[in-house]
Amino acid sequence: MSDHHAPGADFSLAGRVAVISGGAGLLGPRHAEAIAAAGGIPIIADLRVDEARRVADDLTSRFGVAAMAAQLDVTDERSVETLLATVLQRFGRVDILVNNAANNPKVEGDAAGFTRLEQFPLAQWNADIAVGLTGAFLCAKHFGAAMARGGGGSIVNISSEYGVIAPDQRLYHTEGLPPEAQPVKPVSYTPVKAGLHGLTLYLATYWASSGVRANTITVGGVQNGQPSEFVARAAARVPMGRMGQPHEFQGALVYLCSSASSFVTGANLVVDGGKCAW
Ligand SMILES: NC(=O)c1ccc[n+]([C@@H]2O[C@H](COP(=O)([O-])OP(=O)(O)OC[C@H]3O[C@@H](n4cnc5c(N)ncnc54)[C@H](O)[C@@H]3O)[C@@H](O)[C@H]2O)c1
Repeated sequence: MSDHHAPGADFSLAGRVAVISGGAGLLGPRHAEAIAAAGGIPIIADLRVDEARRVADDLTSRFGVAAMAAQLDVTDERSVETLLATVLQRFGRVDILVNNAANNPKVEGDAAGFTRLEQFPLAQWNADIAVGLTGAFLCAKHFGAAMARGGGGSIVNISSEYGVIAPDQRLYHTEGLPPEAQPVKPVSYTPVKAGLHGLTLYLATYWASSGVRANTITVGGVQNGQPSEFVARAAARVPMGRMGQPHEFQGALVYLCSSASSFVTGANLVVDGGKCAW
């Protein structure tokens, strides 16, 4: 292999086609924005296609890229196959997959108590695994295989600090509720997010010789209109003393999608203000 290259790291995503699952939620549009700003073509794929369309239209007008919206149910293999066929027909290639879709229940402020392990419904467990883990597998299976056939690409799995450390359930403590009704982050969340990095390790080695890299971004808690008392409690558990902002994962994403990370595969890039270091 030659070591001749242009000086400096290459963070450009010019012309690269990037599928972002769950692209219409809180963080998905920020992932898509980062890709568009680096010159890539984001495909915002979500169950909620109207919302995905709004994101794609906004990015097209702001960045002049051919952003596309698509309806996708990551739990349905035919839906994944249909999207791949559409993308290949329209762009002739796929370079990047961001496995971002997940059930991300907003526990804070919810006094329903259904999240507690003793009551947690099997159907909810199955649904959470289906979206967060099976969905990532199905997208990797089809989009990753297309990348391998096409000479390479980058898969980024969006995990959580709760895939590295357990949720501190004291964060969700609600005054006035008995212990058996205290809301908790559901038991499905940590297995899904830890499993996602397991998928990263598997994919990284499986396709290493095909030029498909796979990495994880471990996302720390993001501030998003939670009650101020919750934000203060969450911030106190972060060495940097605050929650993350939705745009603070963009640098990690562009790095892992671009040639700047050409020798990085199987890694877990933790972006959490130091929380997992404590
Ligand atoms: N927000 C945070 O604080 C935080 C922290 C750590 C990790 N994360 C992770 O970041 C990712 C994005 O989180 P978010 O806060 O933007 O969540 P979100 O709930 O706002 O967005 C998730 C999106 O996924 C879509 N979706 C759900 N099921 C789907 C399916 N079957 N097929 C296709 N799309 C589907 C939803 O419609 C939604 O638009 C998730 O993987 C989440 O676990 C978020």
